[in-house]
Amino acid sequence: MRLDTDPYLSRYADRARDLAASEIRALFAVVNRPEIVSFAGGMPDTAAMDLDAVAQLTAEVVRDHGHTALQYGGGQGREELREQLVEVMARGGAPATPDELLVTVGGQQGLELVAKCFVDPGDVVLAEGPTYVGGVGALSSHQADLRHVPMDAEGMRTDLLEEALAALKREGRRAKYVYTIPNHQNPGGVSLSEERRVHLAELAEEHDLLLLEDGAYSLLDFEGHVGTSLRSLVPDRVVYVGTMSKTFAPGVRTGWIAAPTPVRERLVVLREAADLCPGNLTQLVVERWLTTQPWEAQVKEYRALYAEKARTMLDALEAEMPAEVAWTRPSGGMFVWLTVPRGIDTSALLAKAIVNRVAYVPGRGFFGDGQGGDALRLCFSYASVERIREGVGRLAELLQGELALLRDVFGADAPELAGRRDEPGITGGGQGGGGTSRDPGPGWGVA
Ligand SMILES: Cc1ncc(COP(=O)(O)O)c(C=O)c1O
Repeated sequence: MRLDTDPYLSRYADRARDLAASEIRALFAVVNRPEIVSFAGGMPDTAAMDLDAVAQLTAEVVRDHGHTALQYGGGQGREELREQLVEVMARGGAPATPDELLVTVGGQQGLELVAKCFVDPGDVVLAEGPTYVGGVGALSSHQADLRHVPMDAEGMRTDLLEEALAALKREGRRAKYVYTIPNHQNPGGVSLSEERRVHLAELAEEHDLLLLEDGAYSLLDFEGHVGTSLRSLVPDRVVYVGTMSKTFAPGVRTGWIAAPTPVRERLVVLREAADLCPGNLTQLVVERWLTTQPWEAQVKEYRALYAEKARTMLDALEAEMPAEVAWTRPSGGMFVWLTVPRGIDTSALLAKAIVNRVAYVPGRGFFGDGQGGDALRLCFSYASVERIREGVGRLAELLQGELALLRDVFGADAPELAGRRDEPGITGGGQGGGGTSRDPGPGWGVA
């Protein structure tokens, strides 16, 4: 049903009235068909999990703590779990105390609660461009004025953030916070360099700024490298959001927020209004997972698996993609960001891609302002290596066909066909200045 024929339209709150019923959502309904290679959902490969161990500990939770597990709990989440999550954060170099933590229903609820806590309609929030689609959703549901700061191979361009902050000051405004995913960013696949982390922390001090640090991929560096957490640099200025989705399993819907105590207190009240408390059953399962199982070995297994899949995807891209296409080279996480010539609209192309039995997420969803029509995100963590090769082949063939069509329509030298490898932005770079496979080049500018 289209929203403009919706008989309830006049009744909605402003924040709900403008929500678009996405055509892409309808397309995603079919991407799980077995004949389609899906690079769309950011899904961990739970085939790597020891299901017997999870079955056993879940049974133990019900047997040994059944009455607690099936009962309501406190709004902040179980203290025993918070103590464990502090340990998980410590592995990612982010300090916190159990009292600063609030257990949430996934990191997504964390992002939404932080937006609810700080954002009035029209308030400015700054974020990397592109940024996590669920982060965009959380902010737009609170009618934030989301402004993007471009990235390059070393993550957010903090020099451009500085300019944006100065411009806001001139307007007599200030950003409510800066949302950043410093490690193996979703969707860019790049990480913030150490120098820029320090610069960002300095800017936070200078401009009296709050940072929202999203640590979703902090433990998923292929080599086990851990970047300096912003929370270790300016703890009083950082609200940290974490999740067990990428290191354990998204099905347990367990994440957390670590925030300075006054903020944490408000967040607990807001969460109680939304869902009273996190589920005790899943909290106990996660708690037992962290206390009785070799969870760090599981994370290591995920890392090795994703390293192999990333390598497969990058090799396939290198071998198959037309010269006009550029992509990032992640050193962790789950994503590659691809940029195509401007004549191709990746939202419009998705239907054709699905007919060609391959799926991706079009780039526009990762921006709040309509950018990204010439980009797309590929997730390499879920598909098998054979399927990755197959899927990249299908996507390359599709893009070859689109480019041939554009050449026929516009002529071979038309700007619509221009290759993207020499352009600034994350199209041209990989993590840590690595560059694309064909066109390395650190220090690239605005996207
Ligand atoms: C950067 C980032 N933050 C937060 C989340 C939220 O995940 P969840 O709600 O499963 O914890 C995701 C999920 O993909 C993500 O990529």
